[in-house]
Amino acid sequence: MAYIEPRTSVIDKRLRNIKRIISVASGKGGVGKSLVASSLALSLSRKGYKTGLMDLDLYGPSSHIILGVKDVYPQEEKGIVPPEVHGIRFMSIVYYTDDKPSPFRGTDISNIIIELLAITQWGSLDFLIIDMPPGIGDETLDVIRFIKDSKFLVVTTPSKVALGAVNKLIWILKELKIPVIGVVENMARNQSFFIRNEIRKTGLHYLGAICFDENLEDAIGDTEKLMKTSFMRDLNNIVAKINL
Ligand SMILES: Nc1ncnc2c1ncn2[C@@H]1O[C@H](COP(=O)(O)OP(=O)(O)OP(=O)(O)O)[C@@H](O)[C@H]1O
Ligand SMILES: [Mg+2]
Repeated sequence: MAYIEPRTSVIDKRLRNIKRIISVASGKGGVGKSLVASSLALSLSRKGYKTGLMDLDLYGPSSHIILGVKDVYPQEEKGIVPPEVHGIRFMSIVYYTDDKPSPFRGTDISNIIIELLAITQWGSLDFLIIDMPPGIGDETLDVIRFIKDSKFLVVTTPSKVALGAVNKLIWILKELKIPVIGVVENMARNQSFFIRNEIRKTGLHYLGAICFDENLEDAIGDTEKLMKTSFMRDLNNIVAKINL
């Protein structure tokens, strides 16, 4: 008899009242996934959309640092209710690891992701943005498996090295017939059509570039400053052109 994981049916129920789920991913680490995910959540929330943000980077959760989340914790109420920070309902693995290094193995990772998805009471949302961990490991496959209606937003940098890893993710998403909104080129430094042309070869949409922003570091942890960065301006220009 097939073993049915009881929590997975709960996950569908938990996500039922969320209109759009966007997973921000890349095959590569350090390309700006967390900045894009947090800034996108912030921007959507400022536009009046009910928005949630879930940080699933079990190795290096960072959304809480980017948004400057302090002294707020989830409430237990027949599941867990995410705290609201800067208008965003925010859930992170950091609440369960106490920000200590967490050397998880494959099965632990799956269990934690299922647990987080099963316990979180998002309520009704227009958007849930998921900050994905780097790579194409178990956690990426878990999100694909357990969150059925998620669309992927892929982030790359102008580097050929990043693109190599990103192409692997794109290949997997295509094989699994997962919807991809398109690819964002982050940390662009000069006008180049290299990434644009390479992405077009894959058949995906190239959504646009976010330039390298020297002042971004200074805005980390301060949402008002973050809203005024050129990073945010470039991201908003991209979002304005696409149908999320
Ligand atoms: N457009 C940009 N201009 C300048 N710095 C940037 C830009 N995008 C991201 N960064 C910086 O690059 C670093 C990595 O960004 P971030 O943590 O968002 O990447 P990530 O893909 O989530 O990394 P990881 O794979 O470790 O989760 C951060 O210090 C961030 O501030
Ligand atoms: Mg990250």
